[in-house]
Amino acid sequence: MEPRTERAHEAFVREALAGTRFENVRWVAETGSTNDDLSEVARQGGQEQALITDLQTAGKGRRDRVWTAPAESGVLMSVLLRGVDPADGFWSVGAVALAASEVIGELVDVPCTVKWPNDVMIGEPGREKKVAGVLAQLVDDAIIVGIGMNANWPEHVPREMSERGTAINRHLHVETQVDRPALAAGVLRRAIGHLASDRTTLRDAWKQRCSTLHQQVRLHLATGSIVGIAIDIAIDGALQIEDDGQVTTHQVGDVVHLRPAT
Ligand code: BTN
Repeated sequence: MEPRTERAHEAFVREALAGTRFENVRWVAETGSTNDDLSEVARQGGQEQALITDLQTAGKGRRDRVWTAPAESGVLMSVLLRGVDPADGFWSVGAVALAASEVIGELVDVPCTVKWPNDVMIGEPGREKKVAGVLAQLVDDAIIVGIGMNANWPEHVPREMSERGTAINRHLHVETQVDRPALAAGVLRRAIGHLASDRTTLRDAWKQRCSTLHQQVRLHLATGSIVGIAIDIAIDGALQIEDDGQVTTHQVGDVVHLRPAT
């Protein structure tokens, strides 16, 4: 059972992360955006750390979207990473998404996968819904990786939320509520392990868990969209799509899974 206050949550995650690169972890009741907060810390030369909150009033998503979640319904957290080789940028983010999909996957009775570039999805193939999203920001030579995980949604959420996404508590195979401090600590610990892996090992593990590969996809780009089969993830994390024998490689974009490749 989850303890009740952010101070108790903080004490729990601090103990779980003692002696690791994220031992400097704080849990606050409310903030604008944990990514913004750690970006400011990075600008001021702060060291590696993690920040978790119960509520964001200005949560940010990818591509200038907003990320909203009812208070205490999610795990909203960011980590400040230093010393990342720019060539490994995608995999620093991927390490967090992979960690989340593994930890969430152990709690639920449906598949939990990663969708390129770094969404975490729950559901049977073809019926996946987003349960977590990751946002990375570069600040000088630091990278801030933030993740929002939908943990405990109330029974009724706005229709647009339940059409596009889901929450872990709707798929639990044992409990009825997600223990958010345990989820936060579990994902951070698992991410630390993946961040210590070399890029080839991490890429292999990420590909194993990726629901985008071997799907017919539509990739939305700033300039339009393309349809093809997602055939591979390059060593730098780029998505390779084949259409009519032509392979194109993409660093950014929003993917829609259309159907499994035949
Ligand atoms: C996305 O899928 O669009 C990415 C969502 C990332 C949301 C998290 S919540 C914690 C961190 N702080 C933010 O403002 N955003 C990220």
